[in-house]
Amino acid sequence: ILEVIATIAELESSLKPLKAQGLKIALVPTMGALHNGHLSLIAEAQKQADIVVCSIFVNPTQFTDPKDLEKYPRPLEHDIKMLTEAGCNFVFMPSVKEMYPNYPTPENWKIDLGSAEFVLEGEFRKGHYQGVTQIVFKLFDAVKPDTAFFGQKDFQQVLMIKNMVEVLDLDVQIVTCPIIREDDGLAMSSRNIHLNKADREHSLVLSKALFFIEENYDKYPLAELLTQAKQIINEIPGVALDYLTIADGDTLLPLTKKRDQNTVALVAAKVGETRLIDNVIIN
Ligand code: PAJ
Repeated sequence: ILEVIATIAELESSLKPLKAQGLKIALVPTMGALHNGHLSLIAEAQKQADIVVCSIFVNPTQFTDPKDLEKYPRPLEHDIKMLTEAGCNFVFMPSVKEMYPNYPTPENWKIDLGSAEFVLEGEFRKGHYQGVTQIVFKLFDAVKPDTAFFGQKDFQQVLMIKNMVEVLDLDVQIVTCPIIREDDGLAMSSRNIHLNKADREHSLVLSKALFFIEENYDKYPLAELLTQAKQIINEIPGVALDYLTIADGDTLLPLTKKRDQNTVALVAAKVGETRLIDNVIIN
């Protein structure tokens, strides 16, 4: 049965006896509005650990657009039902005050995440990864998990969290899980519910462009791949491209030469009013 927990103190006292027994604890951080992508992380966590803690917290410090924060979906009853059915052990759903006692006064948090912090999502959402690492650090500190599970859907986010773990020398193992997609290719996302019928159709072009790059990687030069993939996107009305890149998986800088390792194609675009991201690992 799922135990619902709202405070750090409660969480610590619930986990203490389990840790004393030597049970391995996994953490799956989320912002809720759970879908099969989230559930795949829970399932992988269950395979690799004894106890799974899912956190649901819409973290204000990682939002750069106040409207995006305000309209972020919060279907709590439904989320609890999904976690119960999935056999998750704990859901940690703290208030904003619990995680940030002086909110809205900002806390000092600034760590060196490397130069990849400032490209792609970091360029379009200034300060986003400081906010992400700030809350993930607090969640790690509250749960003290052995392992934590993240989705490749947010490729740059995993990179930033791994960099934080290294810089702060944290004792937690980070596991990355593959992207779960709808049958037609759209990467699952909590924000997909904002898409109207036309947007939903248009949104397909993002995965289509990425799959084009993946399938034709050996066929065309880099520049040609990007030109053609961008053309696929630009043909669709109501899709405004932020970036499409074929990049190094660590620096996230655009490749200048083709090579056969650590290469990822990443895309971000506004579809109607909704901003979506996606990626494929090429090799
Ligand atoms: P959220 O967007 O709710 O995502 C929670 C986790 O689910 C992330 O690790 C994300 O990469 C993963 N995920 C989302 N969609 C997925 C999909 N289609 N397939 C596989 N995994 C998917 O990411 C966040 O929340 C927040 O930034 C958080 C890490 C919780 C910090 O606030």
